[in-house]
Amino acid sequence: MSNNVFKTQIKEEQVVVNEYLKTYFLDNDNKFEEHLADAMRYSYLIGGKRIRPIIMRQVCQAVGGRVDDVIEHSAAIEMIHTYSLIHDDLPAMDDDALRRGQPTNHIKYGEAIAILAGDGLLNYAFELMLDKSLVTGEQKYIQATKILADAAGRKGMIGGQVADIQSEGQAVDADVLSYIHSKKTGALLRAAVMMGGVIGGADDQTLGLLKEYGENLGLAFQIRDDILDVLGDEATLGKPIGSDEKNDKLTYVSMYGLEASQKKLKDLTEKSVELLEDIHGDTSFLEGLSMYLSIRQD
Ligand code: IPE
Ligand code: IPE
Ligand code: MG
Ligand code: MG
Ligand code: MG
Repeated sequence: MSNNVFKTQIKEEQVVVNEYLKTYFLDNDNKFEEHLADAMRYSYLIGGKRIRPIIMRQVCQAVGGRVDDVIEHSAAIEMIHTYSLIHDDLPAMDDDALRRGQPTNHIKYGEAIAILAGDGLLNYAFELMLDKSLVTGEQKYIQATKILADAAGRKGMIGGQVADIQSEGQAVDADVLSYIHSKKTGALLRAAVMMGGVIGGADDQTLGLLKEYGENLGLAFQIRDDILDVLGDEATLGKPIGSDEKNDKLTYVSMYGLEASQKKLKDLTEKSVELLEDIHGDTSFLEGLSMYLSIRQD
């Protein structure tokens, strides 16, 4: 698939996802609820590539599932991802003022409301996934909910954020770097892949391949993020460049340099395409996605 054909397809996916994301936060009973909803909606709907929902939809379809079955869980992972960004930007963490091309949540609403908006998104994600599980009574939705609970938690994204913060300014350590990347970013991307597979009804062998694919993709994604923090254009990226250097972060680029990082990204991308080729079903979109993510500018 050419890059231009792929760009059109991913835009179509983004439009579909944005349509259903817009339907949340509408039922507010008083001015306090409305204020919180405003802050939650702000970061959730302001922009973003919607990569995790799109991956979940595409994996579900590739393994033979119905794409509409992932609506609630894909909205939920985007809520958890968005909350992680709101908190990541706080002065106590990366202290950044620009996100998704707009002032960060705490710049717009103040730190207290930004913290609560993040908390609100985290809880809302579980409300949605549990409602879907209860209404359908289907085990696969409970399984997918559990995957996200684990991936977002102390042994997943939050654990990775702790390691990221605690490694600021520390001596170089390859194992710690790999731990940070596989948890802070890899965990949610892997979860998007696995949830799509589980909801789509993939068999165990396919789930095994998907797990490895998700691991490759997650690492590649964060390496590109580290590269863009150095080489990116702020207006295109929609977030500050140089944030990692400012905070003395342990990143792929700080440890291995730009050239080796590019090489690793290329290798991981090729590997993830190979893994997709082994999966029965139409994985052409996902193959295009791996290529696109390795050269993305935002
Ligand atoms: C940014 O994620 C934070 C990381 C985990 C690297 P994205 O690059 O997916 O950000 P959005 O959702 O498009 O804003
Ligand atoms: C973010 O890593 C990971 C999470 C938000 C969980 P970064 O701190 O590198 O993400 P950006 O570059 O601010 O988006
Ligand atoms: Mg960070
Ligand atoms: Mg950050
Ligand atoms: Mg970054």
